[in-house]
Amino acid sequence: MDKSYVKGGRNKLSKTTYKVKKPDPKKNLSFEKPPQEIFRNRNQHAFDLTKEQMGGAHNIADFLNECGNVIANTPINIDEKKMLSLLQIKYRWQKDWIHVLNHCGMVNEDFFELNGGYMNYIMWKRYYDMGFTTLMFNILDLTEDLRELNEKLRPIRGSNTVANFYFSKGTETRRPSFDKHTHDYNVIVKPIYGRVHWKINGEDFIADPEKNPNNVIVVPAYTEHQVIASTEPKLSLTINLTA
Ligand SMILES: [Fe+2]
Repeated sequence: MDKSYVKGGRNKLSKTTYKVKKPDPKKNLSFEKPPQEIFRNRNQHAFDLTKEQMGGAHNIADFLNECGNVIANTPINIDEKKMLSLLQIKYRWQKDWIHVLNHCGMVNEDFFELNGGYMNYIMWKRYYDMGFTTLMFNILDLTEDLRELNEKLRPIRGSNTVANFYFSKGTETRRPSFDKHTHDYNVIVKPIYGRVHWKINGEDFIADPEKNPNNVIVVPAYTEHQVIASTEPKLSLTINLTA
C-alpha cells in the first residue's frame, strides 16, 4: 500500500470525498492506484508548506537546504576510468546492487555469473559500450570522497544516506534513463561529469558539472522529472533525502 494512504494528510483527507469502496474480490487491491487527490497528498513529505503548517517541530525546506549546501560543496572526484576500475571489484557487485536499464525501460540483469551471483565485468561492459545506462545502488561507501559526503550528512540526517549512481557512456539513439515520473520523496542530484539535459516540472535544464561544479539539481517530492538526453560520458549521484 502506498504510504500516502497511511500517513499524514489530515487536512487534505478531510476535504476530499474519498470513500472506502467495498473490496472487489476479482481485483488485486494492492495494485490499485489510489485516487489522484490522495496519491498526491503533499503533506507526507511536504516541501512547500509554511512553518505553521508543519507544526513547528521540523522544517523540511531548511533540512533540504542544509543537505543541499553540503552536497554542492563536497567535491566528488571520479572520472570514467575510475568508474570502470571500481566496477571490476569482483565481490562488490552482486544482484540487486547494479542494474542496466534496457531500451524499453526494463531492468536488465543478464550480466551476472550464473552460478556465483556476481557481476561479470566483460558482459556488463558490452551494454555500457552500447550506451545503456547503469544504476548502482547505495554507493556512498565506494571512495573516500563519497564516504566523506556520507559523514558530513550524518549529523544533519541522523542516519546513513542512501545514494545511487547513474553511469553511462552516452547515447544518441538509446534510452538515456527513466520516462517522466514522480516520487513521494525529495531527491538531490549531483552531476559529477558529463552534460545532461533534464526536464523538471516542464522546464528544460542543462546540467554541466564542468562549467558549474557546485550546482545540484533539487527534485522536490511529487515533481515530474526526466533525463531527456545524455549524449556524452556521464556520472551523476542521486541522493534520496526523505525516503
Ligand atoms: Fe526520479
